Amino acid sequence: MILCFDSFELDLNAFELRRDGEPISIEPRVLDFLAYLAKRPGQLFTKDEIMKTIWPDHVVAESSLSRCVSDARRALKDDPRSPRFIQTVHRRGFRFVASVRSVSNSGPARRASGRDPFIGRSEELSILGSELEQATAGRSRVVLIRGEPGIGKSRLLEEFAVQSVMASAQARFGRCREEDGAPAFWPWIQVIRDEASAMDDECIRRTFAECGLATAAPELLRWVPGAIVPRGEADPPSGFRMFDAFSRFLHAGCLESPRVVMLDDLHRCDLASLRLLSFVAAALADSRVLLVGTYRDVEMSRSVERSALVAALVRERSARVLQMRGLSVQDVAGSPRPHSVSRSPPLVWKSSTVGLAEIPSSSHS
Ligand SMILES: Nc1ncnc2c1ncn2[C@@H]1O[C@H](COP(=O)(O)OP(=O)(O)OP(=O)(O)O)[C@@H](O)[C@H]1O
Ligand SMILES: [Mg+2]
Repeated sequence: MILCFDSFELDLNAFELRRDGEPISIEPRVLDFLAYLAKRPGQLFTKDEIMKTIWPDHVVAESSLSRCVSDARRALKDDPRSPRFIQTVHRRGFRFVASVRSVSNSGPARRASGRDPFIGRSEELSILGSELEQATAGRSRVVLIRGEPGIGKSRLLEEFAVQSVMASAQARFGRCREEDGAPAFWPWIQVIRDEASAMDDECIRRTFAECGLATAAPELLRWVPGAIVPRGEADPPSGFRMFDAFSRFLHAGCLESPRVVMLDDLHRCDLASLRLLSFVAAALADSRVLLVGTYRDVEMSRSVERSALVAALVRERSARVLQMRGLSVQDVAGSPRPHSVSRSPPLVWKSSTVGLAEIPSSSHS
């Protein structure tokens, strides 16, 4: 569903805010807040209600909400003194004051701007949903989504992130970078940042101190707004102490609500990050966490070390492998034609089945 107001589109499927079709950079938590208000325009929500919804099972200071509101206003270029979108009702709470139109993006109606509507993948989403159920019950799970370039791995993650939020889990996202110069552990740094975006500065410092990340991996914290940055040069983080501290950090989050940690493009992941993934999968076996990784299978098979680490996840952590194939004729029938010419969805005009629990073939392990 897309909520349209003024020149904005709040896309609940793509989990994206756009203005005139252009994506706006916004923290996931701020997007949650905006979606919560905009779904019921005109309704007054107390601060308490909002905080319980946006930070379920998590006690946060009111300053976190204030920060969230001002970030949302900044994204919308809204002036609190004469609000067009978010109105503060003194001592009571907030309401969304613009008129909102909701548009389905799964039906045949094409949107005028933005990205293509999501097509099919109901089987994959249902598998991911049942893995999340297990993880939510305290049996952590690992799912590896593999397939050729452009088949729809990242898009599936985005759709599943929305589904996860609906299931009261919190989705965290890290993408492995193609460019040179990304620091070690870059995908995990993004996960830490995602976690920290829900906390105020005091909470960030306390959490990092308690789990041991502040001393075991000060270098990582340079990348986290609000964390105390160590003076001078610190050694690059590595080793058991850091892995253990990170696992405790993530476990603390899972105590509040289930976490879905999504790591996109593992075929270009730094080896240290892949080792941390293996460590976390073992250390948090009984935590409420679903670890989801994606990779291009051919490119993964070119790296012996990466392939070995991924194969070990399947062997030792019973990771489930989802082999992505082209969309089926049934999926595509009735769907609007994609409007992005350069990267259209993977339409394969044949029936497809999803390979469940496939063990990577020997070339991948
Ligand atoms: N199910 C779908 N419905 C609609 N569009 C889709 C779907 N799957 C993928 N697309 C679109 O196809 C394009 C390629 O998809 P995506 O980026 O997810 O591929 P990928 O497998 O992650 O590729 P890469 O290996 O290059 O990262 C994107 O524009 C995406 O929005
Ligand atoms: Mg991708």
